[in-house]
Amino acid sequence: MENTQTSFPKGFLWGTATAAHQVEGNNTNNDWWEWEHRVDTPCKEPSGDCCDQYHLYPNDIKLIADLGLQAYRFSIEWSRVEPAEGEFSLAALQHYKRVIASCWENGVQPIVTLHHFTTPLWVAAQGGWENPRTADLFARYCAKVAQFMGSDVARWCTINEPNMVSTIGYLIGQFPPGKRSKSSRDTVNAVFCDAHIKSRDAVKSISSAPIGLTLAMAEFQVDEQSENPDEIAMAYAKRQSGFDGLETCFLEAAIGDDFFGVQTYTRERFNAQGRMKPDPDSRLTIMGYEYYPQALEATIRRAYTETRGVPIMVTENGIAVVNDQERVEYVSEALHCVLRCIADGIPVEGYMYWSLLDNFEWAYGYGPTFGLVGVNRETQERHIKPSARWLGNVARANALLPLA
Ligand code: BGC
Repeated sequence: MENTQTSFPKGFLWGTATAAHQVEGNNTNNDWWEWEHRVDTPCKEPSGDCCDQYHLYPNDIKLIADLGLQAYRFSIEWSRVEPAEGEFSLAALQHYKRVIASCWENGVQPIVTLHHFTTPLWVAAQGGWENPRTADLFARYCAKVAQFMGSDVARWCTINEPNMVSTIGYLIGQFPPGKRSKSSRDTVNAVFCDAHIKSRDAVKSISSAPIGLTLAMAEFQVDEQSENPDEIAMAYAKRQSGFDGLETCFLEAAIGDDFFGVQTYTRERFNAQGRMKPDPDSRLTIMGYEYYPQALEATIRRAYTETRGVPIMVTENGIAVVNDQERVEYVSEALHCVLRCIADGIPVEGYMYWSLLDNFEWAYGYGPTFGLVGVNRETQERHIKPSARWLGNVARANALLPLA
């Protein structure tokens, strides 16, 4: 039966997200800065001054509040806080403390991610995430941040999408360090799982705020077109190996967490040969993947089941499009997915749109526009898109509103 409920539960948290390297500017001391300046990488352009959020955060946080959103998920840049091994920068810690204070002053809950794709150069030089010691170094940095921020953080995310760092960085070679090795990817997955558990336990011994992991999850579908049962079986096996490489260890590592961050953008389809390209006539986003907001329902359900009941927070969901009306349509469909999951008893605690700003989309540079708010990078002026106002009104109503 169709779910006609359009209200969200009381206390459902509405927000938006960014990551340090994608908005701050001049994060010169991490592996991404080095990667984006190399000629032998797929990067379109360097991040440069970015959206200069390092200086403009008071303006951006006020904007979030004015829109009617209640939470801001952003990340702390490890390479700023610990620019060399064991050397912690008080100035950087104080900066992030001010960002957190600015959130509270504006009535916005700060959701802090401790690692979002970027790794300090000195860690990368020691083998990065292939080196098991990195898990301990990361936990020490997290403990330092937790001690400094005290009880000011509303929620912690340990690691953002470790499966993307391991797969794109160590198996496909498109993110730093540009490796193409299955065994490296498997090692990195294990080190990240260890890092999640160690950092979670370290932070939990200091801070009472809920803490969880976030994972990139697409809906994995099997293409059942073939008449040949062996081919169908093969497609299921390919899908399973996708799950195993991208999700299994992380969903297990998250059992017992306070919440689990689902981050979904599209679906992936599998046939006997493996991952399929989108159909030529399908609707694509600027990222080149399929417009498929329905994926969020399957990923929330899977995350909840596989973590054996950890409450869910949608820590990222969004779309890169030029036509802002398509963003409203996409988010509206995704929110229907959330409502269906909630109606079935799954505790989904909030929704963070990716992203607040049009920002640095990693190897793609500044081309893909995910933002609720556009940025003129010559003047650093922000311009609010209609989708931002629509989402703010949804947040105020705590209910899905008709499309703008
Ligand atoms: C990442 C973001 C990224 C977004 C859109 C997620 O994989 O966490 O950093 O910008 O997807 O591609």
